[in-house]
Amino acid sequence: MVDTRVVLSGITLDNPVIPASGTFGFGREFAELYDINCLGTFSFKGTTKDPRFGNPTPRIAECSMGMINSVGLQNPGVEHVVNHELKELKEYFSKPVMANVSGFSIDEYVYTCQKINDAEQVGWIEVNISCPNVHGGGMSFGTTPEAAAEVTKAVKAVTTKPVYIKLSPNVADIASVAKACEDAGADGISLINTLLGMRIDLKTKKCVVANKMGGFSGPAIFPVAVRMVYQVYEAVKIPVIGMGGVSSADDVIEMMLAGATAVQVGAANLVNPFACKEIIETLPTAMKKYGIEKLSDIIGGAH
Ligand code: FUM
Repeated sequence: MVDTRVVLSGITLDNPVIPASGTFGFGREFAELYDINCLGTFSFKGTTKDPRFGNPTPRIAECSMGMINSVGLQNPGVEHVVNHELKELKEYFSKPVMANVSGFSIDEYVYTCQKINDAEQVGWIEVNISCPNVHGGGMSFGTTPEAAAEVTKAVKAVTTKPVYIKLSPNVADIASVAKACEDAGADGISLINTLLGMRIDLKTKKCVVANKMGGFSGPAIFPVAVRMVYQVYEAVKIPVIGMGGVSSADDVIEMMLAGATAVQVGAANLVNPFACKEIIETLPTAMKKYGIEKLSDIIGGAH
């Protein structure tokens, strides 16, 4: 029997597979299809201080080997998430959940993280400083080491749960941003968010997405994600959650060899709602194929 367990900041996951924020809602729709307690955990939809309707439509553009989204952090706001979503979640998910938080100012990150921190079922807080789809916040906090450190420090001052900072790949030096977060007290790093992309409709000669640009994700970005996880693993001592185009058990293993302790699956959930379940079910066979008995032994194995 192979051992698929990994430990993320003191909490043991049955396996390293985590649906990524924004591709799994609050899990309810997926729980209607299968028992989502088979997951390591999941990262719920990016939550902000106030409710957000999101960006104008169209918000999605299809691409070869991926997609562009410009959702714009649509969510019901932190009060609703704490008082309704997290209360209902208990009925269909019994494990600690990862709370994904976004903001437009340091004060907003602090407010939302503080509220979320008190929710019993929240195991980790994933602070998104990398959303490419909103102005006045989101990605702008993730593009310099200084701004990333400022958010990290402020959030750590008001939280007791492990804080993972979710980084943007749209930077020249990902290692220096990750290191700044670690120095500011982050408990872990999540990466990568989406790459800034654009599609143009040849008939209308206009951008396909109403917001013009959006975040590109899917299997096409997997090699970029592996490279950045590899670089960040070398730069920091805290755990790394790897994501970006993961769609198979082999991808999970590759991401862990690059340095990931756990692995998020994003766009694949939108193509196949059973993607995470299938990856978890095929992980033991893939481990046997590559002679792996204990999955946690391979973390950073490519270095
Ligand atoms: O636009 C969105 O809701 C996506 C957020 C993100 O990629 O961080």
